[in-house]
This record gives sequence, structure tokens and C-alpha cells, in this order.
Amino acid sequence: MPDDNLNSWESRADAFSFYGFTDLPTIHDRGAVVLTHGEGPYVFDVHGRKYLDANSGLWNMVAGFDHPGLAEAAKAQYDRFPGYHAFFGRMADTTVTLSEMLVDVSPFSRGKVFYTNSGSEANDTLVKMLWFLGRAEGQPERRKILTRINGYHGVTVVAASMTGKPYNELFGLPLDGFLHLSCPHYWREGRKGESEAKFTARMAAELEDVIAREGADTIAAFVAEPVMGAGGVIPPSEGYFQAIAPILKRHGIPLVADEVICGFGRTGNTWGCETYDFMPDAIIASKAITAGYFPMGAVILGPELSDRLQAASESVEEFPHGFTGSGHPVGSAIALKAIDIILNEGLLDNVRALTPKFEAGMRELAQHPHIGEARGKGLMGALEAVADKPTKTPFASDLSVSERIANTCTDHGLICRPLGQAIVLCPPFIMTEAQMDEMFEKLSAALDIVFAEVT
Ligand SMILES: Cc1ncc(COP(=O)(O)O)c(C=O)c1O
Repeated sequence: MPDDNLNSWESRADAFSFYGFTDLPTIHDRGAVVLTHGEGPYVFDVHGRKYLDANSGLWNMVAGFDHPGLAEAAKAQYDRFPGYHAFFGRMADTTVTLSEMLVDVSPFSRGKVFYTNSGSEANDTLVKMLWFLGRAEGQPERRKILTRINGYHGVTVVAASMTGKPYNELFGLPLDGFLHLSCPHYWREGRKGESEAKFTARMAAELEDVIAREGADTIAAFVAEPVMGAGGVIPPSEGYFQAIAPILKRHGIPLVADEVICGFGRTGNTWGCETYDFMPDAIIASKAITAGYFPMGAVILGPELSDRLQAASESVEEFPHGFTGSGHPVGSAIALKAIDIILNEGLLDNVRALTPKFEAGMRELAQHPHIGEARGKGLMGALEAVADKPTKTPFASDLSVSERIANTCTDHGLICRPLGQAIVLCPPFIMTEAQMDEMFEKLSAALDIVFAEVT
């Protein structure tokens, strides 16, 4: 509980800092958790309390909080060349090497990378690339962007317009031309008696209808997360990408995989599009690209979009876009190391090894009378709380069930995230079996406490 004399860290945090995506009355009552350092998957607060971070920071700290190789890579690059940009035909050697590596580990036979500081900026960059392409290729009306309800693509004006969450109405968003299709969440959106195959076919038919209504030549791209992350960890319905990809291809509409969460191992493969077996035209990457040790985003264009953007840019001399921090050499050095440790030093292997235990733990918690669905892929999952399991009726929103569960977990030394009425788990890739047991034990205890209070 913060005091009013500004003596505590919590009061100082509350007085001078503005939190994003935070229930402010709760934080005002409970106080922020002010952290000092981390060890492996644990973080420590100013009072020395230890928390197992079952959310890998914000999905990104996949190698834990004290990986020596990442800190060393950063230090070596700071010592050699501490910063540079990627404008005017100049670029750090480390960044050149990273682009090669990113194209090499991408699903593309060849391609090009454009760097940003965040996933939101990468999505904005992608949309500007497509708008630029449309005009350069004599199709200036090709501007609409299709995404899905519950898709999360970030917070800048374009990325927020892509995001299919109602809170963006508070900003008067989305901008015109950003269209949100249905969320392919069979458990919640499937109609009575509708099979999963029929549900998927309905999602595909909707896409066909939207294309027919809007006109294929007005649509610049369809952008989708392989598994929706911040919208509630929602894997696509069975066969979803196999149903929609050919439709997009037939209409000449690029399919872009927003891999900010799924990319670099989260779903058990390097990319979510590998896990769901589809080939995108471009990839948006961030988060695990540096294991969270540096802010970085990237647009990775496949061969066709690379060639077209190159030609369009040459026709007007340049692609007039970029951030001061784009392709930062320290970020690049960290990313080279992060991708190496994920792919070659056992982190992805550990994701694969731990996934059956993670799924078993989720299934066990789904036995709880107030958990309606346990869903996920690889090391990302969500448990959906319901007041009534057979009818899938949610709890009254003023009960703030998921916030209470997350707060109770925090009190017991476990960080996990409330999302709607779900609790999200996305542990770091370095987690051990014993730490996973600790995570499920603490969460299970919190569920018992909170459900006893609200029922
Ligand atoms: C799929 C996806 N895209 C984009 C973003 C935005 O990334 P950032 O927060 O780095 O701007 C996020 C963030 O969580 C994300 O999950």
C-alpha cells in the first residue's frame, strides 16, 4: 500500500510515472511492484520479495533476467561501436550480419529486413511499405488492411487501428480502411451444433464476402498473428490458415504473419507460421528477437515484396522512412546472440521438452469447475474463467475475477497476467520442470482462493 509522504518506492512510482494498460485504482490501492533485478525466471522487488515471472516480462524475456551471454554481447558491442543508424546507405557491420541471419532463419528463400524499435513500429512500417507500393505501382486505392477482432498489433496510430480491441474506440480509432474480421476462436464463437470444420469454413466465407464487398484491389494486406497473443492466447480454429491463405493468394492480397509473440520459438518452432504450416509474404518480428534485452522490431519481407519495394523505392530514389534507432548495433549484437541461444543453445529444445508438461498442467487446471477453457500452443496458454461451465457464462465484470487471481498470485510470488476473464501464462524458455511445478501450484492455490470468494 503506497504511503502519502512519497517515502516509499510505490508512492514515488505512483506520483511521477504513468502506467500503460494498468488498472489504476487497483494500483493506487495495492501499490506498484517496483523491481530491482532478476535471476533466471525470477524477479525481485525493492523489498527483496521474489516472484516467478510466468509471463517472461511481456512475452519477451525468454532467456531469463541474467543471461551472461546476452550481457556480454551487449558490452562487447558497446565497447567497439556503441551506436549508429541505418540511414543514407550507412549501417553497422553487426546489423548487416543480423539481417543475413534473420533472412536465413526466416521461412523465405531470400528477403530483406527493415528495423524498428518495437513491434508497433514494425506494423506501421509494413503498412507504409504497402501504401507506398500501391502508389508506386499505379494502385493508390490499394490501402485497406484486414485484421481480426482480438488481434493485437500494437499501440501506435496504425498498429492500434489494426488491433481489434474495443478500447481503441477511446481514441477515436480505428482509422478508416482498417477492417476487423471475426476472431477464429471456435470455443467462444462457434455456433450451437457447428463443427470446428464448419466454423473454419464460415471464417473463410466471411473473408471471401469482405473481399467481394470491398474490392480486392482496395486491400493492401491481411495481417494475422499465428496464435493471437494479447487478445487472449487464441490459437486459430483447425485448418484456419489453410482455408484463408489460398483465398488471399487468389485475390493477390499479401498475407502477413505478425510473429511478435510467436516468433523465435514460443509455439515450439522458430515461427508460428511453421507451426500452422502456412507461408506468409512478410513477417513482423520483435520481443524474443533480442530476448527482451534491447528494444527492437523488424519487418522481414519475403522475395516478392522485397523485389517490389526495391523497385518502387528506386523509382523515387528512396524509401523515405526509418527511425534513429533502426538497426542499432548494440541491439543487433544482442539479437545475434539471442537468436543463437534460442535456436542453437537449447532454448527452443527446452520449449519443446516442456510443452507436454505445460499442456498437462493446463489440462489439470481446466478440471476446475470455474475454468471454462484451457487453450494455447507451445509455451503460451490461457485459462478462461467462467461463472457457469456448461453455458460458458462469464463472471460479472465488476467482480474483476482475473485481476483478483493475478493479484492473489502476485501476493504468493507468481506473476501472471489477467486478460479479459482469462489468465495468461507464457513462461520463459529457460524454465525448469521444478519451476513449472511451482507456477502451477501457486496458480492453482490462487484459483481456489478467488473462486471461493466470488461464488
Ligand atoms: C502480435 C503483436 N504485435 C505487435 C505488438 C506490439 O509490439 P510493441 O509493444 O513492441 O510495440 C505486440 C505486443 O505485444 C504483439 O503481441
